[in-house]
Amino acid sequence: MLHPMLITSVEGRDDSTAASFQMIPSLADFSIEKANPRLPCHVIPLSQNRDFVGRRTILEALENALVSPAEHRSVSDSSGEETHLRTFALCGSGGMGKTQIATEFVHRIKAKFDAVFWVRADEPSKIAQSFSRSAVSLGLIDADSMDARDQVLARDAVLGWLANPLKEYKQLDDQRSEEASWFLVFDNVDNPDILDDYWPADSAGSVLITSRDPLAKSYFYSRSDGIALPPLDNSEATKLLLNLTGRRRLTVDERKAATAVAEILGGLPLAITQMAGVIARSDWSFSEFLELYQKESAQTDLFGLQLGPSRARAGDEHTIASVWALQNLQKESAVLLNASSVLDPDGIPEYILEDNPAGKLWEGYPSDSASYQRARTELLQCSLITRQQDTKRIFIHRLIQDAVRAKMSDEQFDVTFSSTLSLLSAVWPYEEFSFGNEIYRWARCEEISPHVFKMQKLFPRFHPPRQLSAFSLEGPKLLLDAAW
Ligand SMILES: Nc1ncnc2c1ncn2[C@@H]1O[C@H](COP(=O)(O)OP(=O)(O)O)[C@@H](O)[C@H]1O
Ligand SMILES: [Mg+2]
Repeated sequence: MLHPMLITSVEGRDDSTAASFQMIPSLADFSIEKANPRLPCHVIPLSQNRDFVGRRTILEALENALVSPAEHRSVSDSSGEETHLRTFALCGSGGMGKTQIATEFVHRIKAKFDAVFWVRADEPSKIAQSFSRSAVSLGLIDADSMDARDQVLARDAVLGWLANPLKEYKQLDDQRSEEASWFLVFDNVDNPDILDDYWPADSAGSVLITSRDPLAKSYFYSRSDGIALPPLDNSEATKLLLNLTGRRRLTVDERKAATAVAEILGGLPLAITQMAGVIARSDWSFSEFLELYQKESAQTDLFGLQLGPSRARAGDEHTIASVWALQNLQKESAVLLNASSVLDPDGIPEYILEDNPAGKLWEGYPSDSASYQRARTELLQCSLITRQQDTKRIFIHRLIQDAVRAKMSDEQFDVTFSSTLSLLSAVWPYEEFSFGNEIYRWARCEEISPHVFKMQKLFPRFHPPRQLSAFSLEGPKLLLDAAW
């Protein structure tokens, strides 16, 4: 089928209109006026974590499975050589450190690959967005073109390139272009079926998958290597705790207490990160902390948190850790955290949260820049969120979101839900009757829509107000507009 955007002008012939257009049969036909891919192309959203500890054997296993030995090639060529896709699935419960390992690994090995793509695979809409972004970064699609809006086209362009990853498209076809090496990460594949339409079948490259699903390991094609990620061992866990609390010179007793804390937390990195935040902020010694912790965790009703059976199973230590970290926050920090807990965790643009006019109507919300930054600092210090300075985005772990929402009363949830929807609505570019800013509008919508989708998922818990006001119509208006 002809795609309308693939009608391009023939170079150097702008003398007549009709004659100067040529139909290009399909994007996959690279022989005609195709810009070369922009290489190296490394799309890695998270930066390296300076506090990363341990995991040596896992990183080595990844290296063996996905990088060495040197010949990471090749597609079936004229000699009929078999395709060679290397895959590895990193499985384990939430907060175990899968994303961290994947991030650390790709930063370590990226120089060995011409292209590295990071795909967020927890939602179909996010997979599609990640592929579109990759297509644009690779130069297969122009960011400012209408093509960039066509997610199927973008997906096919990327899959097409992965199957035939030419470094340049030669005009003369007697010379074969060299093939590029590529590495693909599918992060957070909670439902393996989601990959069906995005799997680089018949391609030669390396694919790393992270998943909470223990079955994923066997599901991902029987030939796939994989590992069920264990917790940090005791020395790694203690090291992480000491690094994050910044405590170096310790008495023998304190060191023992630190090891005991790491052990209580089951070596679960997310729990250790949370507790390190609590300990550092409260300026407790490890022994003081141990004493307090043991007293509190003996109570059945942990800070009044209602645990459903599924959540209780997810690991008590972890739930307790998250709840502890939520204690004693300033009101504005707590409200900001509430807002963050109902948005998409993988990057909240700060223009949604900071100095948002709709925030003024939300009691306790940090409505101006100064108070926003104060609240943000507190949440950063408690390791409840992280921030990427260059892209001005906030990240929060899903499990922390779960803990924050579990702790809310239904009333608090309703206020959080409707007020956060208003924050989104205030920055959503509703269509004005003007032309020309389509691309801007689309880029904005693309950025905000994962947050609208997340809220749609949380909608079942929401009790809409009995009396409608103009304010309560913001939400439906946004959901309708976002659905286009
Ligand atoms: N090896 C590690 N070194 C330091 N911190 C880690 C490590 N693994 C995990 N963490 C911490 O634990 C948190 C949760 O890890 P993450 O990789 O996001 O878990 P998962 O992807 O398994 O849910 C991270 O944000 C980070 O703070
Ligand atoms: Mg993860």
